[in-house]
Amino acid sequence: MTKIDYNNLPQHIAIIMDGNRRWATSRNLPAGDGHKAGAQNLEKIVQHCKDIGIKYITVYALSTENWKKRSAQEVKGIFDLLIKIVKEKRVEYQRSGIKFFVLGNFQAFPLKVRKAIKKIMDMVLDKERLKFNVALNYGGRDEIVTAIKNIIKDGVKPSQVNEKLISKYLYTTGQPDPDLVIRPGGEFRLSNFLLWQLSYAELYFTDILWPDFGPKQLDKAIIWYQQRNRRMGK
Ligand code: FPP
Repeated sequence: MTKIDYNNLPQHIAIIMDGNRRWATSRNLPAGDGHKAGAQNLEKIVQHCKDIGIKYITVYALSTENWKKRSAQEVKGIFDLLIKIVKEKRVEYQRSGIKFFVLGNFQAFPLKVRKAIKKIMDMVLDKERLKFNVALNYGGRDEIVTAIKNIIKDGVKPSQVNEKLISKYLYTTGQPDPDLVIRPGGEFRLSNFLLWQLSYAELYFTDILWPDFGPKQLDKAIIWYQQRNRRMGK
């Protein structure tokens, strides 16, 4: 197998973490155990990204649709996992330079969740090695609608509106667009994820379910990415 070229890494990797419930069902486990396994895998992937020198990772944890349509018990289970991650990892992230950030409308979340998120987001790092974005109650179209509303609110003139300005009004403001998006779980769609930001991303799909998509699988996706010819419209 070809090896990773560490001088040509994608700067930003985005992942749609799909397949947790199927992973659990295939083992006769409740859905919550699938999300737990997904959260454990996420931690491995985040550490691996930091170790190999990826600068940005964005994961889709809860879409605006999941938030509305999944059972209250399942959503609570995902929130509990999120609180566990941010509480257990806060100090370690600070020490190792992982900057946690939430993309999405989290103002609608229970106070306990908002407080935990705010605490880790406010953390000041000496040196940032990896920006770790978690998309929660996130929808790509909703993000663009919110951006337009804010642009209008700010009284921006039509002649001042351009792609750069719109990017500035998105949750990912100041961050480079993802170079590579990975979707485990066997589906071939973007599901309203980072619609603006993924314009030129390379798309990698695999049947492997998210809890099984570990560091070795990520390396394989990066090698695949490095073999692509990124013409960017040229
Ligand atoms: C999609 O799989 C996964 C989710 C909707 C939840 C993702 C959550 C985690 C990975 C764990 C928590 C992590 C954080 C950061 C809160 P699915 O449930 O749609 O699986 P299926 O396609 O098999 O039904």
